[in-house]
Amino acid sequence: MPRRFHLGWFTNFTPGEWNSSFAVGGSHWDGRFYVDMAQAMERACFDYIMLEDTLMVSEAYRGTAEATLKYALMAPKHDPLPLAALISAATRNLGVIATMSTMAYPPFLLARLAATIDHIAGGRFGWNIVTSGEDSAAQNFGMDALPPREARYEMAEEYVDLVCRLFDSWEPDAVVLDRERGIYADYRKVHPIDFEGRFFKCRGPLNTVRSPQGRPAFVQAGGSPRGRAFAAKHADSIIATANQIGGMRQYRDEVRAHAAKVGRNSDGIKVLYLVYPILGETTQEAKAKHQEPY
Ligand SMILES: Cc1cc2nc3c(=O)[nH]c(=O)nc-3n(C[C@H](O)[C@H](O)[C@H](O)COP(=O)(O)O)c2cc1C
Repeated sequence: MPRRFHLGWFTNFTPGEWNSSFAVGGSHWDGRFYVDMAQAMERACFDYIMLEDTLMVSEAYRGTAEATLKYALMAPKHDPLPLAALISAATRNLGVIATMSTMAYPPFLLARLAATIDHIAGGRFGWNIVTSGEDSAAQNFGMDALPPREARYEMAEEYVDLVCRLFDSWEPDAVVLDRERGIYADYRKVHPIDFEGRFFKCRGPLNTVRSPQGRPAFVQAGGSPRGRAFAAKHADSIIATANQIGGMRQYRDEVRAHAAKVGRNSDGIKVLYLVYPILGETTQEAKAKHQEPY
């Protein structure tokens, strides 16, 4: 039996390579390049494609947007959700994961959007749960600064609880499609959630049907200890950076320990580590490419 492993591809809806030797000026903004890429990944048996997102034009370097825009570094960037829908419609087996921030989306909208795309994908949609990490993103949503990390994760815990209740607000057999009696859905199987937390309040139920998976797959990339604990509690898959095999083992052990604390079977949590492949016709060519300035 060959040892099998999981593969994901992490990308974002940006112009892509626009001025390197083989570039043709960057990909068009219609998403076709990424759809094509996703189809190739599907042929190569990748588990999923994951679409990164942030919600600002960064001025982190020298307090200006100059470098960000000059080099097209993380901006401009299209919204990943319509692309997730396009990719979903053009593939059959690939998991499609999009990033949505708990800071930006009202929980109801996120739950509805995720349920909708999970239907378009036939049960292959996933949510990369992020809490956002930039004050400049928070300033696009009526805040002066992000809440501190601990508060962000407290909010995210409540947020995930709320959206899970929305995902469950339609019982699996709520849609009866009874032609004889003229009943589409049994209203007794669709429940308001009457959620009142410290941060969020939502009546429910979701105004769309239960998603094929019940809820989208949850993906997380928690860097800090708090983020890692959150990921081990909720995620079906975790993306992480780690140094060498030892670092990966350590991270995995940490996920196992956190998961055990909350009664989860950690073998069900797929941890994928980031690699940044540099390709060439030969090893030498790849190494030379690695040395090229950006
Ligand atoms: C592989 C990877 C992918 C990430 N993708 C995103 C993303 O798309 N959007 C985002 O706002 N943050 C993203 N993050 C940031 C994490 O969600 C997280 O906020 C960050 O690692 C800092 O950890 P902390 O939130 O636990 O402090 C990513 C992090 C990693 C390691």
